[in-house]
Amino acid sequence: MIKSLRGRLFVGLTAMILLTGAIGAMFAYNWAFGEAIELQDSILIQLASLAQNASFSGGQPLHGVDEDTEVWLIELGKTPRGSGDDRQLFTLQEGLQVATWKNQPVRVLLKTRSDGSRFAVAQLTAVRDETARGVALRTLLPIAALIPCLMVVTALVVAHSLRPTARLARDLDARRADDMTPLPLLGTPSELQPFIASINALLKRMRLLMDQQRRFLADAAHELRTPITALSLQAENLDSVALSKVARERAAVLKQGMHRTKHLLEQLLALARHEATPSGPAEMPLASLDRVAKEVAADLVAEATDRGIHLGFALVEPVMVHSEAAMLAAILRNLLENAIRFTPRDGTVDVGVYRENDIGILQVEDTGPGIASADMDQIFEPFFRGSRPEEEGTGLGLSIVKRIVDNLGGEIALENIAGAGRSGLRATVRLPVAGDSDSVGSEEVEKPKGSERTHS
Ligand SMILES: Nc1ncnc2c1ncn2[C@@H]1O[C@H](COP(=O)(O)OP(=O)(O)OP(=O)(O)O)[C@@H](O)[C@H]1O
Ligand SMILES: [Mg+2]
Repeated sequence: MIKSLRGRLFVGLTAMILLTGAIGAMFAYNWAFGEAIELQDSILIQLASLAQNASFSGGQPLHGVDEDTEVWLIELGKTPRGSGDDRQLFTLQEGLQVATWKNQPVRVLLKTRSDGSRFAVAQLTAVRDETARGVALRTLLPIAALIPCLMVVTALVVAHSLRPTARLARDLDARRADDMTPLPLLGTPSELQPFIASINALLKRMRLLMDQQRRFLADAAHELRTPITALSLQAENLDSVALSKVARERAAVLKQGMHRTKHLLEQLLALARHEATPSGPAEMPLASLDRVAKEVAADLVAEATDRGIHLGFALVEPVMVHSEAAMLAAILRNLLENAIRFTPRDGTVDVGVYRENDIGILQVEDTGPGIASADMDQIFEPFFRGSRPEEEGTGLGLSIVKRIVDNLGGEIALENIAGAGRSGLRATVRLPVAGDSDSVGSEEVEKPKGSERTHS
């Protein structure tokens, strides 16, 4: 059983072409064969009418244009005479018939002249059949030539007709997992439209379901935030209370736990907030990537210094992109927090902001261990923390970054830096820069000031 629709159509249509061809060929052959025999009969009749008024010496072959036609004119006389063959011919009735002459089957036309003498015009049946077969076979040539042409045309038509299905599959495959926009119905074949409509209905249901889930996640995280903040404050308040050493140690553990829970809630909220937004990046306000980068880096300098890490800028160029500043800040904060957290003491974290044609690039490089290549495939999945998870971290940071970058129409790439005596991770975010006309009149576009290198 052929699984592919194309295969089935092709085999079915080819079988039909071959069957029709075979039946047509059979009829054409039989018809042409019969016609050729009749034509040869009419030649015998014409020869006989020529011989009607003249007599020839018996049994002589009449070689016309063609040596192989093997036609004999046999004078039989007025009474049976001559060889046994001639005598036997004499006894036959007037007209066309099949007889045996010189031990071979022949087609014979027997005639009697007005003076009573008889003669026969005979031709070997084998020769006649051979000629007829040749003629009949020649009528099959066009059919034989047409069949491969028809098969090629069928294959082309089948492939062309099924192309929309292949295109539909390609479009669906190329989609982002969270892209729930309906498939276009316009320009698709009518047979595919019910199918596309069903897929669209399914996509709509899935979008509703995802919206529900997202709202639930956002609501739950939001509802939890107030009590957790209150609990955090209570835990902080313990600092000002005189406590025994043991109680203080317990309070420290409690505070750390509260801190982690708060971080988890914030990441969950961020994840819910940055789900696919219906509006494209072009409808978002303008934001300065370099300025946001400087602000976020300034915020994290203290933490980096605490951990003995040199945080600085490798290169900063003014880059304007369509985005909310908070989204850019969330991207950089997550990348920088990772770099700072996973880089050992005395390491370096470099930030770069620059432009390559129409693409704004944000790069964070660290001197940490990098990400195990086995983890790379899953690294953007929520809650995935790699094969060597630290005690801190929710595994949500990079999935938040990925979602924001996707929403901004950009790309993110993570690559391990493996050079002489160094390791590390390089995270590169590429975002489309806002067109030059957009930036006119926007809030303070900074003048290019070349690259700068500052280390904290
Ligand atoms: N710069 C880095 N160097 C080495 N490993 C990294 C780096 N960045 C991320 N990783 C690995 O990827 C995992 C996922 O990172 P992600 O930012 O998504 O989550 P997280 O940092 O564990 O949690 P969160 O960001 O919510 O604090 C990390 O747990 C870590 O194992
Ligand atoms: Mg992180």
